Amino acid sequence: MKFFIDTANLDQIADAQDMGILDGVTTNPSLMAKEGITGGENIINHYKKICELVDGDVSAEVISTDFEGMVREGEALAALNDQIVVKLPMIKDGVKACKYFTDKGIKTNVTLVFSAGQALLAAKAGATYVSPFIGRLDDISTDGLHLIAEIRMIYDNYGFDTQILAASVRHTMHIIDCAKLGADVMTGPLSSIEGLLKHPLTDIGLATFLADYKKGNS
Ligand code: E4P
Repeated sequence: MKFFIDTANLDQIADAQDMGILDGVTTNPSLMAKEGITGGENIINHYKKICELVDGDVSAEVISTDFEGMVREGEALAALNDQIVVKLPMIKDGVKACKYFTDKGIKTNVTLVFSAGQALLAAKAGATYVSPFIGRLDDISTDGLHLIAEIRMIYDNYGFDTQILAASVRHTMHIIDCAKLGADVMTGPLSSIEGLLKHPLTDIGLATFLADYKKGNS
């Protein structure tokens, strides 16, 4: 299972990369704005910085909603670095643009996916990644994890290569449940990744080992 971090915060990206477990980064216009990164040039420079920090795929989202605009933006983003994955919204022109980039050998991430039908369309268009937003489904009392299971079944039925990128992950249990269900990738905040480290018995056990070592060596 690949681990992506879902942020545009360079310190957090560097922190996760430093741990040695990071496979990539996802961003979106809201995450960029949260870091105060606005305006075309600043956003482009920020993507370059992110690519320098990590080894893996970096999803960069287009803001156009028409095919021509998505192609223009996506081509410019893809030209920045081989690590860039063009992130496209799940709308009709987004599907068309996905097929366009697939045919050109450019990686894509179809985002804002909330149903199995949308995920099927993304796979038909040859998406590298499909991003079902599980947290936002949970927010409206709909089981986000059920969607991951449905997409897994459909993709396995037909051998689609599109990777299921569980997005809108909010906490550690989301990661564990996605792993059980066979999501190929998860993207979440640093806190959700660091949450996997925690167990009180680990802390108690370590404290005991250190205390016993001190006793034996004093
Ligand atoms: C996915 O690529 C999105 O950036 C993200 O996971 C959205 O998460 P949110 O619902 O917590 O905003």
